[in-house]
Amino acid sequence: MERFDTCEAMTAWSLGQRSEGARVGLVPTMGFLHKGHQALMDALRPKVDRLIVSIFVNPLQFGPEEDFEQYPQDMLSDQRICNEAGVDAIFSPTEFYPKGFSTSVSVHDLTAGLCGEARPGHFEGVATVVTRLFGVCACDIAAFGEKDYQQLRVIGQMARDLALPVEILGVPLVRDEDGIALSSRNSYLSPSERVRARTLHQALFKMQDAFQDGERDVEALLAKGHSVIDADRVDYLQIVDGVNLGPIGKITEPARAVAAAFYGHVRLIDNVCIGGEVEWT
Ligand code: PAF
Repeated sequence: MERFDTCEAMTAWSLGQRSEGARVGLVPTMGFLHKGHQALMDALRPKVDRLIVSIFVNPLQFGPEEDFEQYPQDMLSDQRICNEAGVDAIFSPTEFYPKGFSTSVSVHDLTAGLCGEARPGHFEGVATVVTRLFGVCACDIAAFGEKDYQQLRVIGQMARDLALPVEILGVPLVRDEDGIALSSRNSYLSPSERVRARTLHQALFKMQDAFQDGERDVEALLAKGHSVIDADRVDYLQIVDGVNLGPIGKITEPARAVAAAFYGHVRLIDNVCIGGEVEWT
């Protein structure tokens, strides 16, 4: 397994692989890898000849009060996981944005609500880093988790709007044994917060069950969800259109039940599909 820590070396390697006819895939991450990231690698591995995992904690997507400085890291464990998943190259840049970097990428509409509203500037930071990662890694395809459902839709829209020659692969969310969606930030939870954090997915599952039992009214479904969540603060609990993430009153098309809540200072997000899956791009 190769490891590159400059953008130039990464690009040169990837272009070299492509010139030999290899199809190159990228799993962008911020490190502290877990089974959710492994699922991204496993989904992409059979679709490509060369697999890159990028590990970069992107300062642009963190707000001033957020956890950029504390974001967990464990390069040794990350390397082991990548090795086991058959990754060909890790890209862990020491400097990612060149001096004088002054471009940002904004996706409108899709970023107006949910995490876009709660975390101003977040998706601009994500769209900017992902666009540059696509350029530096010269990838043909990239995988993103459904756990960050809004992020996945934003990146799909961005790739389409900017005609980026990169296919976007959405990969189902992975849950821990207690049902909590896997996230690097779960490591911040105290044992008692972790117990209460289970109510986030339990609320979403309750809404999904009620839908399956025939309930189509969004207000009625949300009331069921709210009756279950025990959090210090619920950022949002919504059912939105599965494609444009806009508000809906009744479920007639594929929709997504989405939630974000604080347990202590830890902000967790989760989502479930209601009423059918949607195409990604
Ligand atoms: O989902 C993440 O881990 C990050 O938002 C990403 C896509 C790696 C961009 O920094």
